[in-house]
Amino acid sequence: MAEFREKYGPWAIVTGASAGIGRAMATELAARGLNIIAIARRQTLLDTLQQELSENYGVEVRTIRADLTDPESISKIELLTSDLEIGLVVPNAGMELSGAFIHTSLEDNENMLKLNITAPMQMAKVFGAKMAARGHGGMLFISSLFGYQGIPHVASYAATKAYILSLGEALHVEMKTSGVDVTVLSPGLTSTDMPANMPLDFSKIPIFSQSPEQVARTGIKALGRKATVVSGLLNKFYAWENRLLPRHFPVALFGFLIGRAFKRDHHGSAGNNPDSAPMAG
Ligand SMILES: NC(=O)c1ccc[n+]([C@@H]2O[C@H](COP(=O)([O-])OP(=O)(O)OC[C@H]3O[C@@H](n4cnc5c(N)ncnc54)[C@H](OP(=O)(O)O)[C@@H]3O)[C@@H](O)[C@H]2O)c1
Repeated sequence: MAEFREKYGPWAIVTGASAGIGRAMATELAARGLNIIAIARRQTLLDTLQQELSENYGVEVRTIRADLTDPESISKIELLTSDLEIGLVVPNAGMELSGAFIHTSLEDNENMLKLNITAPMQMAKVFGAKMAARGHGGMLFISSLFGYQGIPHVASYAATKAYILSLGEALHVEMKTSGVDVTVLSPGLTSTDMPANMPLDFSKIPIFSQSPEQVARTGIKALGRKATVVSGLLNKFYAWENRLLPRHFPVALFGFLIGRAFKRDHHGSAGNNPDSAPMAG
C-alpha cells in the first residue's frame, strides 16, 4: 500500500466518481491510501462519497462539480487542483449513445465526443506533463470491450472507445521513459446505470455482467504492469478472437447480437441528462 501511494499518490483524480465504475474506482483507490479528487455533475452524490471515503479510509477527499462537455472544464480542474500533487488520473466519465447512427442527434454525438474523447485527452496532456516532469505517476484510461471493433447500433460510442484504447496503448510506450504508467481498462458489461438505461435486453447477448468493484480492481491491478486489460474472462475472449479473425466477422457478430437485443424500435438516444435519468456514463 505504501509503495502504491508513493508511486501514484498523494492525490488521484477520478472523473465520473458519483456513480458506477468511477465511484468504485475512487473507493478502491482510497482503500489503497490515496487522497481523492472526485469529479462529476451531481454534487449530492459526490458529498456522500466524500463523507464515506474520509470516514472509512481516513483519506482527504475534494469534490469538483463539473460538466466535462464544457470546453473550459479541464482548465477549471487544473486551477482547482494546482496546490496538489496529482499522482494518478482516471478519466472515467463517459456516456453512451445507442440506436441507428443516422437517427441519433448531432448534438448528442458532439457531446459524447467531448466527454469520452476530448476531456480524457486534455486531462492526459495537462496532468501527464506534470507527472512526466516529476518522473512518476499513472493514468488509467477507461475504454470498453466495444472499443475493440466497430459495433453496429452503438457505432459512435464504440468509436470513442477505440480512440481511448489506441491513445492509451500508445502512451503506455511513449511515456514509459518518463516514469509515467499508462494502462487502458476495458470493461465488458458492468452493472451500473449505463447499461440499465440502454434500450437493450442484455440477457439476449452471450455476455456476463461484472460488478463495478470487480472492474475497478482489475484496472488498478493492471496499472504499472500492462498496457491494456479487459475485465472478465469471456470479455477477454471476445477481445482476443477478433485479432485472429477477419475484422468483418466480429463486427457482423456484434451487429447481429446487439440488433437482436433491442427492446423496441429505437431511434437513438443519449442517456446523459442528470435530471431525467441517473445514467450518464
Ligand atoms: N457499465 C458498462 O457496462 C460499461 C462497459 C464498458 C465501458 N464502460 C465505461 O465505463 C465508464 C463509466 O461508466 P459507468 O458504467 O460507471 O456509467 P455510470 O454509472 O452511468 O456513471 C457515469 C459517471 O460519469 C459521470 N458523467 C456523465 N456525464 C458527465 C458529464 N457531462 N460531466 C461530468 N461527469 C459526467 C456521471 O456523473 P454525473 O451524472 O453526476 O455527472 C457518473 O459519475 C464510462 O467511460 C463507460 O463508457 C462502462
